[in-house]
Amino acid sequence: MSNIKFINQEHIPIEMHKARIVQKINLISLEERIKANNKASNNSHLLKNEDVFLDMLTDSGVNAMSDKQLAAMMEADDSYAGSSSYFKLKEKINEMFDMPYFLPIHQGRACEHLLSRVYVKEGMIVPMNYHFTTTKAHIELAKGKVIELLTEEGLKEESDCKFKGNIDINKLNELILKTENNKIAFLRIEAATNLIGGQPVSLNNMKEVSKVCRENNVKIILDASLISDNLYLIKTREKGYENKSINEIIKEISKCFDIIYFSGRKLGSSRGGGICFREEQDFLLVRNLVPVYEGFSTYGGMSVREIECMRVGIEEILDEDVISQGPIFIEEMTRLLVQNGVPMVTPSGGLGVHIDCTKFLPNIPKEQYPAASVACALYIISGIRGTERGTLSEDRDDNGEEHFAPMELLRLALPRRVFTLSQIKYAVDRITWLYNNRELIGGLKFTEEPETLRFFFRKIRAYR
Ligand SMILES: Cc1ncc(COP(=O)(O)O)c(C=O)c1O
Repeated sequence: MSNIKFINQEHIPIEMHKARIVQKINLISLEERIKANNKASNNSHLLKNEDVFLDMLTDSGVNAMSDKQLAAMMEADDSYAGSSSYFKLKEKINEMFDMPYFLPIHQGRACEHLLSRVYVKEGMIVPMNYHFTTTKAHIELAKGKVIELLTEEGLKEESDCKFKGNIDINKLNELILKTENNKIAFLRIEAATNLIGGQPVSLNNMKEVSKVCRENNVKIILDASLISDNLYLIKTREKGYENKSINEIIKEISKCFDIIYFSGRKLGSSRGGGICFREEQDFLLVRNLVPVYEGFSTYGGMSVREIECMRVGIEEILDEDVISQGPIFIEEMTRLLVQNGVPMVTPSGGLGVHIDCTKFLPNIPKEQYPAASVACALYIISGIRGTERGTLSEDRDDNGEEHFAPMELLRLALPRRVFTLSQIKYAVDRITWLYNNRELIGGLKFTEEPETLRFFFRKIRAYR
């Protein structure tokens, strides 16, 4: 992003791209939004996109693509096996992450499925900074258990800590000390940790955790789905890295890990995903499952057009103008909301802005899903769709008891290069109005509750 200041000294994020293909969006009337929300059973995942004005549900697969990505899709080499598009991608990945082995896999959770199948066995644990919904589901389906090792700051909605995604090294050492040999399937670090507000992990923390893992023979895996936001935040927040290039920072990150996987829908702004391996032995274990679940190992369930697009998208994360756009817009939107008194997760991170709904609706208890209530209300008053990231995004435990999330967040994702500053200002205005009229919002209760990843297909209604 360009460092431009106006005459009045105002700093605003200036887009370093221009729009050449656009999509029309609709702002349907309030009455129509109420009907659409009822039809979707108060679940933003079940709304039709044509009924949504600003779609801030997620950044997955909805970041804007570049002209170069679209052009590369036309050159794709279509073949079941040995496509040259695959070899071009593999070469790019090897060069970026300095890892010799690579498998394309059709999306992030499919990588998690294969890694859990190979490494997680009944009774094993998987320590990590914090879980992601699909990661936890796959580990638990393989009968393993997630152990979270975030530092205390990570779970504070408001904090001065620049790296709230960091792992607490003392907790890690204690866990290793008290765990039987071979019971740790692997340790996972998630870049720009999604469910706690897109909060970054420092490179020094990755180095420290890696040292402990290697000293104790624990495999260490990076979920790099949101690495582009994390890279930018390391470069701008972490002492010692301000003068390093993004390429140098990626190389230092890679050295800390044995395996790196990612959702290409987030990283590289396209579709798909992939897993990089340092050791041939790990590569072979996972590769042998690919034809069973994904397809041949040179397309991994993806179209070759997506493979070409991913290659260009991944190369583009070396460009600071590209990777700064998300975090800078998120910072600006968070700043405007904080200025208007709306309780927010601070400092801002990657992926989107995160509203602290425990403070937004202090009278609605966790069992009435305050963040999902705010999500419904916001859609009704503005046509903006976000997603709940709190207790409703957790599944019940084996006894059917609620697992209360430590934070109740409404996430409004800002897919990269999609929204303009005037649209951000519209969102800020509507959220502020809702906050000032929050006594209108009540709680919710389930009418239909799936057992696994319940937030996707749940049906829910007003509590009263
Ligand atoms: C951190 C993280 N890991 C994994 C995934 C799963 O990726 P996908 O949506 O491609 O299955 C996501 C998706 O949102 C994510 O945010």
